[in-house]
Amino acid sequence: MSDVLYPAWIAGRPVTTGSTAEVLHPYDGSVVGAHVVPTAEQVEEALAAAWAVRHEFAATSAAVRADALMHVSARITERAEEIARLITAENGKPIMWARAEAARAASTFRFAAEEARRWGGEMQRLDTDAASGGRAAIIRRFPIGPVLGISPFNFPLNLVAHKVAPALAVGAPIVLKPAPATPLSALLLGELLAETDLPAGSWSVLAVGNDIAPLLTNDERLPVVSFTGSETVGFAIQKAVPHKHVTLELGGNAAAVVCPDWSSDTDLDWAATRVATFANYQGGQACVSVQRVLVDTSVWDRFVPQLVAKVEALPTGSPWDDTTVVGPLVNEAAAIRVQAWVDEAVTAGATLLAGGVRDGASYSPTVLTDVPADAKVSCEEVFGPVLVVQRVDGVDDAFAVVNDSRFGLQTGVFTHDLQVAFRAHRDLEVGGVIVGDVPSYRADQMPYGGVKASGVGREGLRSAMDDYTYERTLVLTDIAL
Ligand code: SIN
Repeated sequence: MSDVLYPAWIAGRPVTTGSTAEVLHPYDGSVVGAHVVPTAEQVEEALAAAWAVRHEFAATSAAVRADALMHVSARITERAEEIARLITAENGKPIMWARAEAARAASTFRFAAEEARRWGGEMQRLDTDAASGGRAAIIRRFPIGPVLGISPFNFPLNLVAHKVAPALAVGAPIVLKPAPATPLSALLLGELLAETDLPAGSWSVLAVGNDIAPLLTNDERLPVVSFTGSETVGFAIQKAVPHKHVTLELGGNAAAVVCPDWSSDTDLDWAATRVATFANYQGGQACVSVQRVLVDTSVWDRFVPQLVAKVEALPTGSPWDDTTVVGPLVNEAAAIRVQAWVDEAVTAGATLLAGGVRDGASYSPTVLTDVPADAKVSCEEVFGPVLVVQRVDGVDDAFAVVNDSRFGLQTGVFTHDLQVAFRAHRDLEVGGVIVGDVPSYRADQMPYGGVKASGVGREGLRSAMDDYTYERTLVLTDIAL
């Protein structure tokens, strides 16, 4: 794979010459491939083209947009194994999760195609007011303008799909800046987009360094910025361009709550299995991986030993092995940071129940308890395979602990009690509550995003399409209602 050169995609056109950058495999440091780094002139060409094509693209038929999105979905499915292997190569996530990501990306494009076909608008009768007899309003949504999508390394394809697909569905040009560590899946997506009839200029993939990001975020021809990544960078963008429409999908310290009624052997086995897996999948590098599990005191003694046993049994090692669940982190620096945070917690009095060992970029699945509330592993986003187990006494106590966080992305609530489920929905300050499962559950068509330091705005195809557009009202006069 190492001799493959991925072109830059400028206004839908491949650029195969120029300076290049290499991408390394996190597990062994081998060269995965290289890509063309666009020049300043090529970046300018992409932005100018997006701006120039915006009216033409917004006016394309739903069929053109939906057909293009369906084509991409079908081609991802056809090339799924190759794509999954590329995701593993550049990101280091185990192949089982890379295959799942490729399948999700195909769905994300398919959902966008379906939404593009449904994207109509609504009629509101205005004759409900005596002064507006014979009048009605037709309300449709139109693109705010070209979108700048900035995507992270942890889902190099599907979080790219969540920027690109809804933009194309509404006819908004998109300029995508993938993460410098993992740009190749996005560039491969460029190949599939180039097979469609989308107008030139309606999309570009710019694998540029983070030093170019301010130039992009500040450019007035990109009035929408959709960013997924760190809290620090996200809020800095929002502060730099307060007049723009900025959507931020940021981090979290997601909690799962094991309620007192979740107490049968089957219940506890399911919860332990799911928490163990989704605290550690892809090295814990997901915004909604389980970082805190709040266990009711009535089930603590039965649940915690099972949980620790399941964490210790997780297959670790080479991401190429079909059975590996936990592979390396994105690089050694990330693993060293996780190690420092765990060491800090242990020094402050935490008890290590499992893991705590680093080997290069890999960090063993780790379980901690008795963690001080102000330890980073508890109150910051770890983005690593570390789970904090905390005893709680009843649902009120558990919900208070969930809310006692700067973050609010998703929470999992293991309960059979409908009242508790509704209370969770009402009282938890998060973007999503998952009943009977971990907070890591995400269906790509559902609204997804956070509150507090976890961000603003929502992804999920329909939500992102709303986010990239604004309502424009057409009032009709003297009509037969
Ligand atoms: C994220 O890490 O924010 C995305 C999680 C997902 O799409 O499953």
